[in-house]
Amino acid sequence: MSGVRHLYVHLPFCAHRCGYCDFVTAVGRVGEHAAYAEAIVGELERERRRLAPDVETVFVGGGTPTFTEPAALRRVLAALPDADELTVEANPETVTPALAAVLREVGVTRVSVGAQSFDERLLEVLERVAGPDHVRRAVHTLRDAGFDNISLDLVYGIPGQSAADLEADLASALALEPEHLSCYELEAKPGTRFTHAHGAELARQAEAMEGYAEQVVETLTGAGYRWYETANFCRGRGGDNGRELRARHNLGIWRGHDYLGVGIGAVSTLGGERRRNLPSLGRYVAALAGGESPPRELEVLDAETRAVELLMLGLRLDEPLRLGGLEPVVDGGALARLVERHLVERVAGGIRLSPRGRLLGGAVTAELLSA
Ligand SMILES: C[S@@+](CC[C@H](N)C(=O)[O-])C[C@H]1O[C@@H](n2cnc3c(N)ncnc32)[C@H](O)[C@@H]1O
Ligand code: SF4
Repeated sequence: MSGVRHLYVHLPFCAHRCGYCDFVTAVGRVGEHAAYAEAIVGELERERRRLAPDVETVFVGGGTPTFTEPAALRRVLAALPDADELTVEANPETVTPALAAVLREVGVTRVSVGAQSFDERLLEVLERVAGPDHVRRAVHTLRDAGFDNISLDLVYGIPGQSAADLEADLASALALEPEHLSCYELEAKPGTRFTHAHGAELARQAEAMEGYAEQVVETLTGAGYRWYETANFCRGRGGDNGRELRARHNLGIWRGHDYLGVGIGAVSTLGGERRRNLPSLGRYVAALAGGESPPRELEVLDAETRAVELLMLGLRLDEPLRLGGLEPVVDGGALARLVERHLVERVAGGIRLSPRGRLLGGAVTAELLSA
């Protein structure tokens, strides 16, 4: 193995827990940030031999990486390998000139800001700390510090949101001229306080989701963005002055490359094996402090599982998916029918979903897979 070229680093701490979120997070616990930073640097050292000499991307995600106590955040960032793309996720209210300067100093190339919405009322429904002005200020602060690759996350289908509200959110996001936008359908996780509180309205939003997705794609492609992945858009076709503005880290994962994840809850895919670090902060820190690997689950990925994953991920992209090696999991009859219904296109180098097929997404992919 020549080494893994994609590294994910999980910094789980958040100031507060947003009702809709089910990521691996830890609220507050500022007194534990330094010990966690030591542990994650320890895990990185243990795993460093797996990394290629030329790491392509590092993604520092959360949680809220930028909520991490500054010395602990610096400790982690300083321990990262050099990479062509180094992304850090930032919550708007945490972006100060001092933070932006630290991110620049350690070589961060891309910042992903969790805007979610620009509507005061909808941000309250989401239980966000940031208001619309925080989001705008964060982007301006990052620009002033010299960042030229900023991504904004938006969610849609928020309880109480109308199509006009979504249009206003998209317009507000576009006004900030981000290089990249991620627009996610709000997923309501069963059993959460949020789902319980907004049940009926979430059901109404679920009915409207397909229309919202179409609206997002029309508005953003109309504004010149490339719809390069189901939920992801970047400025300009073929980049901007030849720059790659797709999220290179995620692109690696969608193309089925191996990646290493460190930190609680982090997932790795390494040569046919999937590892998941368990989410317990205490057990993670204790294991690494004792010179041991963190507790994790292991799953062996057989050829069929890998092929299904490659198909499901690859068809999210606007680039052709090579069918070589995937034949055993593709239903030839279904492929022919989907081509006839203009949901799948045969193109040089393989197949891809048509724009309509991409909007239907998972349903088309499911039909394509042999039973
Ligand atoms: C790992 S989260 C954390 C980012 C950051 N802490 C924040 O809150 O902005 C990354 C992105 O996932 C999206 N996300 C989180 N929960 C979601 C949900 N239930 N449904 C859809 N998207 C979600 C949000 O857009 C968020 O910015
Ligand atoms: S700040 Fe982000 S990661 Fe933390 S709870 Fe809210 S959505 Fe989840």
